[in-house]
Amino acid sequence: MADLDGWAVLVTAGGTREPIDPVRYIGNRSSGKMGNAVAVAAADRGATVTLITTVIAPDFSGIVIPVETAEEMADAVWSRVSDQDVIVMAAAVADFRPAVVHTNKLSRASAPDLIQLEPTPDILAGVVGRSAGATVVGFAAETGSLDRAVHKAQAKGVDLLVANDVTAAGSGFGTTTNEVSIIWPDGAIEAWPLMPKEEVAGRLWDVVLQLRSDGR
Ligand code: CTP
Repeated sequence: MADLDGWAVLVTAGGTREPIDPVRYIGNRSSGKMGNAVAVAAADRGATVTLITTVIAPDFSGIVIPVETAEEMADAVWSRVSDQDVIVMAAAVADFRPAVVHTNKLSRASAPDLIQLEPTPDILAGVVGRSAGATVVGFAAETGSLDRAVHKAQAKGVDLLVANDVTAAGSGFGTTTNEVSIIWPDGAIEAWPLMPKEEVAGRLWDVVLQLRSDGR
């Protein structure tokens, strides 16, 4: 199947790591498996795929840009968005980072009570502002209800949002399966059953293909 032939696709994957000092970081539990599966599926279907990721990318043969922090991911994504047909933001980007990064390892004795945080760049907002004509897919990892994700689908300027409840069995970080809902900006929701992440990725490309052939 080469139905994505000629498409330029950019995918982000994995959780960003925001350094405290040379040894420690603030991070999250994303394994990068979902984003990796999305990238592999697009490449298998003929797209030219750039994967910007914080984790190694097994089975992926396209262009890999390794990054670690939200800032590095933002620079890597924003400098490439103008050439893309589809942008899939599957990465779990830290929303906050330490305002000061210590050059030497904090000792137990010197460790502060409090780490002052500052917001990271909103990569998706920058993508929406820079990517005229591209189809933009956002992700939302929620805990419990997907009500917040419905709001995000409307507020973030994406063409569709892939939301999941990370507390549901088989849908948590690091699993090989996922149970997602596809949410459109008009609030329509399509709940998919639990399935392997590879299958979620395949179905997602079917939806994007349909969206683009409808001219949306
Ligand atoms: N995202 C991003 N830059 C950030 C944070 C998130 O580009 N600094 C992207 C994610 O890759 C995802 C989408 O935005 O595609 C939604 O992420 P999420 O963390 O659910 O959204 P937030 O607006 O940060 O909402 P929350 O209040 O739940 O943290």
